[in-house]
Amino acid sequence: MSAEILHLPVPEPAAEERPVLVVDLGGQYSQLIARRVREARVYSELVPHRITAEEVRRRNPYALVLSGGPASVYADGAPRMDPEIFELGIPTLGICYGMQLLAQELGGRVDRTGVSEFGKTELQAEEGELFAGLPRNQTCWMSHRDSVVAPPEGARVVAGSPSTPIAAFEHPERGLYGVQFHPEVVHTPYGHDVLKNFLHGSAGAPPTWTAAAVIEEQVERIRAQVGSERVLCGLSGGVDSAVAALLVYKAVGDQLTCVFVDHGLLRQDEAMQVVETFEGHFHVPLVHVDAEERFLARLAGVEDPEEKRRRVGEEFIRVFEEEARKLGDVRFLVQGTLYSDVIESGGTDGVAAKIKSHHNVGGLPADMKMELVEPLRLLFKDEVRRVGEELGLPEPMVWRHPFPGPGLSIRIIGEVTRERLDVLRAADAILLEEVRRAGLYRELWQCFAVLPAIKSVGVQGDERTYAYPIVIRAVTSEDAMTADWARLPYDLIETISSRIINEIPEVNRVALDVSSKPPATIEWE
Ligand code: XMP
Repeated sequence: MSAEILHLPVPEPAAEERPVLVVDLGGQYSQLIARRVREARVYSELVPHRITAEEVRRRNPYALVLSGGPASVYADGAPRMDPEIFELGIPTLGICYGMQLLAQELGGRVDRTGVSEFGKTELQAEEGELFAGLPRNQTCWMSHRDSVVAPPEGARVVAGSPSTPIAAFEHPERGLYGVQFHPEVVHTPYGHDVLKNFLHGSAGAPPTWTAAAVIEEQVERIRAQVGSERVLCGLSGGVDSAVAALLVYKAVGDQLTCVFVDHGLLRQDEAMQVVETFEGHFHVPLVHVDAEERFLARLAGVEDPEEKRRRVGEEFIRVFEEEARKLGDVRFLVQGTLYSDVIESGGTDGVAAKIKSHHNVGGLPADMKMELVEPLRLLFKDEVRRVGEELGLPEPMVWRHPFPGPGLSIRIIGEVTRERLDVLRAADAILLEEVRRAGLYRELWQCFAVLPAIKSVGVQGDERTYAYPIVIRAVTSEDAMTADWARLPYDLIETISSRIINEIPEVNRVALDVSSKPPATIEWE
């Protein structure tokens, strides 16, 4: 991805969208907190703890939520915040380390009590704002060493656990709230309600961040950015580019042209679905480039996975560029950058956005100086899906598992040939059909077939066979950083295996991958 493309200005969120700012104090759950706030239908953004009081004031947030953090408030270099932020009168909820920081900064005290708490803990809650309408006794998830031993001046203690007498406090007049436990994790069953009490009750933030509202806002913004210019969008078959394209189409109609480079490395029927959905159903101007031959020619004789990736990426750019040239003068290019890409690229730390390119549609030629339209830049993946549903994108596209840019080329271990692609596609289609039928598709992060290009011996009737094996890879995961092999029911595996072997003559063996990541990876190459 070229510097020219990346450093073009990206419009800031509309001023009228008042956020809740989640201050990242280094905890592993900061992103999760931001997501949970949005699940309560309140727009949130993750910001660095170095944010100044002036910047906070300018954003006019409904509330601040201070995240947990790995540090002790007494540790050298422990993350702090601009103390003037606490003078702004913005309702603030501190979580874990965030609570301790509030206590320390605002006249309370934090001590290393010698008692640490990790894991599920019983909580005694009291009447008040945070626990309004919730059971007095509940379970929560704790993970801390230090404890608050005196709340901020004037605050009332509203929950305690056996080893942490001050597990929550609140001071409605000063807009201060703190919880030692983690309301954002699923192990705190009422955590979501505590957050909602704070957001909707204490902070007065209305639950208006819905898919419909996102669409309305993005459509306005795209119109303002694009005017009457033409826009180009590459479709990959995945949910991000599909939703981005539909948003732009809703905003500027036929000013948009989508280009779908079909590299012949997609799963069964996928290319057809893209064309049917976009051209047939939504009537989006679409250029469908059937480039299978070109890609197969480029992949002939190549076994090294990184070389496959390089060639597919390069060829993709070439084809895309050729098609773009044919369209004449197009000023804008749609990219499906997500909020998590922005965060991971240092976006919350004021560092210039450096977006991962290898997961985006092909990456783009360095000399294509186009301005980016990034309608998903503020959205988490689950929000993209909700927006997709709201826009009427078919269910299989909305919920499609992640699929690598180089497609099936990296799921054939060895040289990629049309014969092997056909075998792999057929096996993969059976696998997915059965997993869907068993109602398990959405529970899995990814599920696919792998074809190691070796032949093993089998027997059919009196004859020996030498045919390919197929490996079933199914994993559960939150974010693809770690993954566990999915415990698919034996009956299901049996059905899949016998169907693959019976229906595909080139296959005589099915194996199941039972490795987790790490140390294995999700893909085989
Ligand atoms: P691994 O195999 O590293 O995969 O555990 C993590 C996630 O990344 C996807 N992946 C890719 N996506 N181009 C992509 O666009 C690639 O070259 C590529 N390699 C892996 C993989 O499917 C999983 O979701």
